Amino acid sequence: MLLIGGGGREHALAWKLRQSPLLDRLFCAPGNAGIGEIAECATLDMAEHKAVIGFCRNNGIDLVVIGPEAPLVAGLADDLEASGIKVFGPSRAASQLEGSKGFTKDLCAEICIPTASYARFTDAAAAKAYAAKQGLPIVVKADGLAAGKGVTVAFTREDAEDAIDVCFAGTFGDAGAQVVIEEFLDGEEASFFALVDGETALPLVAAQDHKRAFDNDEGPNTGGMGAYSPAPIMTEALSTQVMKEIVMPTVRAMKARGTPFKGVLYAGLMIKDGRAKLIEYNVRFGDPEAQVLMMRLKSDLLPALLAVAEGRLAGITLDWHDEAALCVVMAAKGYPGAYFTGTEIKGLAEAAADPQVQIFHAGTKRDGMRILANGGRVLGVTASGRDIVEARTHAYAAVDKIDWPDGFCRRDIGARALD
Ligand code: AMP
Ligand code: GLY
Repeated sequence: MLLIGGGGREHALAWKLRQSPLLDRLFCAPGNAGIGEIAECATLDMAEHKAVIGFCRNNGIDLVVIGPEAPLVAGLADDLEASGIKVFGPSRAASQLEGSKGFTKDLCAEICIPTASYARFTDAAAAKAYAAKQGLPIVVKADGLAAGKGVTVAFTREDAEDAIDVCFAGTFGDAGAQVVIEEFLDGEEASFFALVDGETALPLVAAQDHKRAFDNDEGPNTGGMGAYSPAPIMTEALSTQVMKEIVMPTVRAMKARGTPFKGVLYAGLMIKDGRAKLIEYNVRFGDPEAQVLMMRLKSDLLPALLAVAEGRLAGITLDWHDEAALCVVMAAKGYPGAYFTGTEIKGLAEAAADPQVQIFHAGTKRDGMRILANGGRVLGVTASGRDIVEARTHAYAAVDKIDWPDGFCRRDIGARALD
C-alpha cells in the first residue's frame, strides 16, 4: 500500500493499517519521523501524478490511500484510477464538495439539505451590498481551499467588509476569487464521518475537535488542537437525521450527476435543539479526529478501505471499542501564526510507555537519534480509557512527560464533553 500524506492523521491511519494481517509492505509519502518507524517513507512529489503512478508500478502497490485534501482536489485519484491503480479517495469532481464552498452550497440548495442561507459573489461591491442587508454576525468564506484560513465569522459590518476585501485582494490566491457569504449558525459543532463507495454509506463513530488555539475556545482558528470520541452530543437520533437528511441525499445526488463520491465524507455540523445543519463538507478524514477514531476502531481498517475503492461497501460492518479516546495536539509556539522548526523533542519514549497511550507524529523529522519539530502541529498525544475522563488523564500524563519547551498545548481538551 501507499499512503499519501505526512501528518498526524496519516500516522494514525498507518498505525491502524500496520496491524492488518493483509498488509505486506506499507509506503508513505512523505511521511514523518513517527510514520518512519512503521512504514517506509518515500520522497515523492504528490503534485507529480506521473511520478506517483510510476512509484506504484515499480513497487507493486495494490491500494493508494490519499490522506489530505489538496491532492484529491488536484485529481490524483482520477489519474491513479485511469492507470488501473485502486484508490481510497474521491475524484477531482467529487472533491469539489470540499474544494468549492459555493459548489456545496448550491448542491445543498438544490436537494434541500439543512444548512445556512448563503449567496455567492465574484466582486467586492456586490458582496458588501449583500452583507449590509444581512444581520450580524455574518460569515465570509473564500470559495476554495485556504488551509483553514479562509473563513471569517464577522461580528461587525467593518470586519465583514475587511474579510471580503482580503479574499478579493488575492490573499488566498484563486481560492478567494469567489466568496460565499453565509448566515451565522449558532449551536455546538460536531464532526460526522461516513465511508462511501459511490452508493453505500457506512457511518463511523462520532468525534469532536477543538478548533481554537487556546483554552476556553479562545484565540485563532487552527486545524484542530485536540479531539475526543465518542461525542456525547451525537445521539443515535441525531446520527439518523444526519444520514437521512444530509449524507444520503448528497451521496445520491453525486451519483446522479455522474460524479459518485468514493472515500470518507466528513460532515462538519452545527447542532442546535437536537437537530443538525451542515456547515461544510471535507472529503477526507479529520485531523486530529482520525487519531481518536483509529484508537477506537476494533475491526481491520484495510478491508473497509479496499471495499470503498472497489465499490462493494454494502455488507461491510465495523466494530468499535467501547472505550473512549482523546487526543491532545502539541503545537510549535506561535502556531497557527509563524513558528520555529527544528527544535528538539525529548521524553517521547517515557511518554509512550503507558499501554493506553499512542503518540502520533504530525510534524516531526528524525536527525540521527534526535526527533525535531518540523511543522505547526507536531504531535498528537492520544490515549484510550473507560471514559473521556480516564482517557484525558492518561493523555495529559503523557503530555507532561514530553520535554519540549518550544511547544504548547491546550489543557482543556474534552472539557465540552464533560460539561
Ligand atoms: P469551515 O472551514 O467552513 O469549517 O469553517 C471553519 C469554522 O468556522 C467552523 O468550524 C465554524 O466554527 C465556523 N463557521 C463556518 N461557517 C459557519 C456558520 N455558517 N455559522 C457559524 N460558524 C461557522
Ligand atoms: N479537524 C478539522 C479538520 O480536519 O478539518
